[in-house]
Amino acid sequence: IIPVAELHTKEKRLNPFPVYNLLRRLSPVRYDESRSTWDVFRYEDVHRILKDPAAFSSVRMLSDKDRETILTMDPPRHSQMRALVNKAFTPKIISGMDSHIRSITMDLLDAVADKGAMDLVHDLAVPLPVIVIAELLGVPPKDRDLFKEWSDILVKGPEENTDEAFYQVMAEKGQAIEQLNDYFARIVDERRVQPRDDLISLLLSAEIEGEKLTDKEILGFSTLLLAAGNETTTNLITNAVRLLTEKPELQQRLRNDPELTASFIEEVLRFYPPIQAIGRVATADVEIGGKQVKKGDQVISWVASANRDETKFDDPETFLIDRKPNAHLSFGFGIHFCLGAPLARLESQIALRAMIERMGDIRLAPNAALEPIQSPFVFGVKQYPVEF
Ligand code: HEM
Repeated sequence: IIPVAELHTKEKRLNPFPVYNLLRRLSPVRYDESRSTWDVFRYEDVHRILKDPAAFSSVRMLSDKDRETILTMDPPRHSQMRALVNKAFTPKIISGMDSHIRSITMDLLDAVADKGAMDLVHDLAVPLPVIVIAELLGVPPKDRDLFKEWSDILVKGPEENTDEAFYQVMAEKGQAIEQLNDYFARIVDERRVQPRDDLISLLLSAEIEGEKLTDKEILGFSTLLLAAGNETTTNLITNAVRLLTEKPELQQRLRNDPELTASFIEEVLRFYPPIQAIGRVATADVEIGGKQVKKGDQVISWVASANRDETKFDDPETFLIDRKPNAHLSFGFGIHFCLGAPLARLESQIALRAMIERMGDIRLAPNAALEPIQSPFVFGVKQYPVEF
């Protein structure tokens, strides 16, 4: 996914929403020659694409068969694999992690609480999801800096729109995937000999129609969790605190009524979605919004735009802490709906409650210079220094 040309400046990438609003009005479905892709901006169209995997496939054009994961599979294989991994992410299992996630959060905040200042990204939003995923997968939390390095590279986009920049990023990604595969291959070998109570051991013992998963499938899934689960949750937590500093009156509301935390996080997801766009490929000639899309064309669904569509949401430019209903598309929709959504919600709710309980009045540090994350589809900032 390459960002639309209109998002070429840093300022626009820190606040792309006016651009999406304009494009949704002027060209709700358009073909971009320079990126060889369709961009779709309206809620109705995005929703329809995501709910029809037969017409819009998740198998990538350039995808490497060896690196297939549930994210890039279609039914029937997707349904089988998804049913299997669902077992490790049931709401019951996730809600059972509540007190543990809270204690990790408190430890992270203990380290900075007395300083009156922290970099929210570095001190909380990065380590919390990385520690949780590392524990779920059963890899040593001490390797978390490596994880962070790899997952940053996996979501990275080219710095500029040139072939050279593109190939450089692709080479970096290839190298990171190789290192990750080597890393997980070692862990898989260890767990095969000595299973533990972790996700990798569960995947090793699982069978689909009497057949075990291949090592490649297990490695692919582990790598996917790392990439899909970390960067996204980090940005949800950061975007939530960014909103608290941009609209400080919300801090008091959350302090008075902590029960609002869950709907606050849903509205952050709608308003500042960590993932802005979702890619598919048309499996046959098809019409979207009056335009003729050809078989094999890439179609990008801009959920960050759909979430602000006035035909779906009342007063979409207003952040409503208790918005109901709130059918945002930030976790996708349909068969690929985010597997980790319950975990991401839980972690970010706990993180936000802890910030509100412990940090008092939270402000963006004076002179903080915000840098957007260098990724075409992730919405977030590299640092978010706050004072409290
Ligand atoms: C799928 C967003 C956190 C694991 C997705 C999709 C989106 C998404 C938009 C759908 C992609 C598509 O339709 O092609 C997010 C956001 C998160 C988050 C915004 C945090 C705020 C997590 C976490 C995990 C995770 C914590 C795992 C621990 C996955 C997996 C899929 C997925 C495995 C693929 C599901 C499938 O293809 O059936 N996520 N995610 N995500 N997510 Fe998340």
